[in-house]
Amino acid sequence: MNIMSRIVGVLSGKGGAGKTTTAVNLGVALTKLGKSVVLVDSNVNTPNVSLHLGMNFTPFTIQDIIENEPYIPQAIFIHESGLRVIPADFSLKDGHVDIGELKNHMHKLAGDSDYIIMDCAPGLGPDARAAIDACSEFLIVTNPETPAVADAYKTYKAIKSINGKILGLVVNKVNNDGYELQAGEIENFFNESIIGIVPEDKSVRSAVQNRVPVIIHRPNSKAAKAYKKLAMHIEGVRPRTLSDILFEFLKPDRKK
Ligand SMILES: Nc1ncnc2c1ncn2[C@@H]1O[C@H](COP(=O)(O)OP(=O)(O)OP(=O)(O)O)[C@@H](O)[C@H]1O
Ligand SMILES: [Mg+2]
Repeated sequence: MNIMSRIVGVLSGKGGAGKTTTAVNLGVALTKLGKSVVLVDSNVNTPNVSLHLGMNFTPFTIQDIIENEPYIPQAIFIHESGLRVIPADFSLKDGHVDIGELKNHMHKLAGDSDYIIMDCAPGLGPDARAAIDACSEFLIVTNPETPAVADAYKTYKAIKSINGKILGLVVNKVNNDGYELQAGEIENFFNESIIGIVPEDKSVRSAVQNRVPVIIHRPNSKAAKAYKKLAMHIEGVRPRTLSDILFEFLKPDRKK
């Protein structure tokens, strides 16, 4: 059956906001929800997806796809979670790819999975703009500090200017230490909803260091729970309530 993928770009203003962490964990969480997901590293100049996922050498990358499309099947790495990944080449070899071609290649890939999640470059340089062009839906990741929010707003405006569909904001590395913008202030500023609040959590740093997504490395951590909740929101899955659990327990024959 030919399905049409949702192509979701994970963007920010500032670098280091948590795009790769979000893209990787969202990809694994959606896979665990039974969805078929391809995670694409479109941050071709400073790629990190393979580092977050513990991938070593991969023979083909997004750069090969952009240069020579028939490589697509060989460029897909299957992570132990079932998530499919198209990494970027982080060698310092000469030559650049025509990043403007990203859209054409992603659209060719778009029949094969429920989601294509694109981990994007920060800011609004050519790499980020090519990803914006290639995606149909967007997540904007920001930290709760004023400069990060101000830069994220520029990205938001760039997406709005092409009438892009914004799924919502993800506020990452939340400390609640009194020196941060509050959720309501951020939502009012963007006039968009926050659909994920991820606390500053050492489990994420441990996960990155161990090259395992935090939802696998520390599944019960606050950050892992936040990413699972984000995936459920995007997929439209309602969290199970106590009455759901009691209903299933008491009336097992009524379970679908
Ligand atoms: N919720 C969190 N709690 C603690 N540390 C975090 C959290 N999210 C991300 N980090 C840390 O912040 C660093 C940057 O995160 P990440 O690589 O996801 O950002 P990015 O937006 O993709 O960066 P870049 O713009 O360079 O691509 C990582 O090393 C990660 O360990
Ligand atoms: Mg990144």
